[in-house]
Amino acid sequence: MARVWYLSERPGERLTADIFELKQVEEPPLNNGEVRVKNAWLSVDPFMRRLLGAECVGMTGVSVDAPMFGSAIGEVVESKATVLAVGTPVLHGLGWRDSSVLPSSACTNLAGTTVPLQRYLGHLGIAGQTAYFGLLSVGEAKSGEVLFVSAAGGAVGCLVVQIAKIKGLTVIASAGGAVKCAAVAELGADVVIDYKAPGTLRSKIAIAAPAGIDIYFDNVGGAHLDAAIHGAKPGARFVLCGMIGGYGGDDVLALPDPMRMVLKRLTLRGFSAPEFNSRHAEFHADVLHWMQTAQLQCPETIVDGLEEVPNAFCRLFDGGNFGKMLVRL
Ligand SMILES: NC(=O)c1ccc[n+]([C@@H]2O[C@H](COP(=O)([O-])OP(=O)(O)OC[C@H]3O[C@@H](n4cnc5c(N)ncnc54)[C@H](OP(=O)(O)O)[C@@H]3O)[C@@H](O)[C@H]2O)c1
Repeated sequence: MARVWYLSERPGERLTADIFELKQVEEPPLNNGEVRVKNAWLSVDPFMRRLLGAECVGMTGVSVDAPMFGSAIGEVVESKATVLAVGTPVLHGLGWRDSSVLPSSACTNLAGTTVPLQRYLGHLGIAGQTAYFGLLSVGEAKSGEVLFVSAAGGAVGCLVVQIAKIKGLTVIASAGGAVKCAAVAELGADVVIDYKAPGTLRSKIAIAAPAGIDIYFDNVGGAHLDAAIHGAKPGARFVLCGMIGGYGGDDVLALPDPMRMVLKRLTLRGFSAPEFNSRHAEFHADVLHWMQTAQLQCPETIVDGLEEVPNAFCRLFDGGNFGKMLVRL
């Protein structure tokens, strides 16, 4: 038997853990080419919130009474695939459960890795690929420029801050609360804005970057995006990575003064990390090197137990993580 999280109802305005149900399900015998994986690490990620709604634009959503899924790392415990022997550590996309049956072709073999396996759900996984290519390829970041990055204490943001410092940029970061802001400053950010403290984001950015910002890496949308538009230099580049501030509904994403984007001749580009899959080796080599030479810290928030997966997921939207949020089984 496997224990699997299911979506039992659609979320309301506020995401709560009780919309998920943990079920015991019979595990199928293996077909040729398949493996059974005992999961050790599960990832929870903000984009999943959008998959839970009735209307899920641009992605395949999760139906009510359907099993959840997500990135996971585990060990092959049974194999009918010649390429993956029992005992091999693998990365796959059938998480939110303690055991997964899937084709070997849907697994990435992690044997021989020299870093803790869970890094492949964070710095060496999608969060890392997003930060690396978002900043360097989409944002075309250059030494001497001024970067503003929001949700800087999240999995992507922590890495954006640190890569930008390695590349010689001035980094203005935003995060919620004094404790998290201090932790982001420890990562090297030159100025950290507490967006939850009194005062407007527009005025805080104007003080932090009086000459304006060259690049905005947007993880949040809404008021953050509006403030970045106000604080941008003419011709600034905006990397549209995600808009977690609006994942519960699009209302808060409305911009009060969008014409300013025209007048400032801004370039805004949305992107999706998998569009850079063909350049994965370049990203992996650089980030691994920075990790091994202690140029990158890898903050993680670790929660223990399969029962805690929905709570860990909900905490992403309350700022309950610093760095990558992981569930350890
Ligand atoms: N384009 C892509 O391919 C791609 C890939 C991965 C992720 N993303 C996007 O990148 C963004 C960051 O993802 P992540 O995995 O780094 O996130 P994460 O580790 O889950 O961190 C989320 C953080 O966002 C902050 N946050 C939550 N709600 C907020 C709000 N309403 N206003 C301001 N901040 C809020 C919280 O920190 P505070 O305590 O500071 O509030 C929270 O800790 C998300 O928008 C995600 O969808 C995009």
